[in-house]
Amino acid sequence: MQISPSILSADFANLQLELDRIANADWAHVDVMDAHFVPNLTIGLPVVEALARVSPIPLDCHLMIDDPDRWAPQYIEAGAASATFHVEATDDPRRLARALRAAGGRAGMALKPATAWQPYEELLPDVDMVLVMTVEPGFGGQSFMADQMPKVRAVRESVRRHGGEVWVQVDGGVSARTIEQCAEAGADVFVAGSAVYGAQDAAAAVDELRALVAE
Ligand code: DX5
Ligand code: ZN
Repeated sequence: MQISPSILSADFANLQLELDRIANADWAHVDVMDAHFVPNLTIGLPVVEALARVSPIPLDCHLMIDDPDRWAPQYIEAGAASATFHVEATDDPRRLARALRAAGGRAGMALKPATAWQPYEELLPDVDMVLVMTVEPGFGGQSFMADQMPKVRAVRESVRRHGGEVWVQVDGGVSARTIEQCAEAGADVFVAGSAVYGAQDAAAAVDELRALVAE
């Protein structure tokens, strides 16, 4: 069970400090948005490169961008340990996942709430993580979509059948109120933005989330 706080809800004027506040987490989740794939613009390659230099924990880059085939491997080269692309944004998810691994990183594929899992199941041998979005990508602080839990279950079931070591991540509206149902459905990597950075003590919020899903 791993916790990946999203720095989308952190203070962008103090990112190094904000990373240090969550040094007890497993990953720092970095939401890259390009104002095309989603209607919001956040962080790009130069900032990720700078964050990778100072972060006490590995970076988990969530790429909400068009043309990930061109850009995603560059996030690994910039120092991210993991890069997750959206399946809706590429015609060749298998080739892209292999390119991420070839660049030396973990390969993740993300599904928007309206995207079905079944067509992508056959890609499991080529990825390290499947991200099931539990909000419409684009903004922090939205309400958790419990109707995505059947998809989390289906992904977990496929991973079990396939027998590999693929992580199942949930992202969006994850909090002390919603994290247990995600774990129960089969998620094992939990992204939380507002629930961590909205707390007075971010590290304590990470510990609290972790305790709720500890096996
Ligand atoms: C939404 C992002 C999420 C977001 C989560 O598009 O992918 O990572 O930061 O924020 P919360 O936890 O506040 O929903
Ligand atoms: Zn995200």
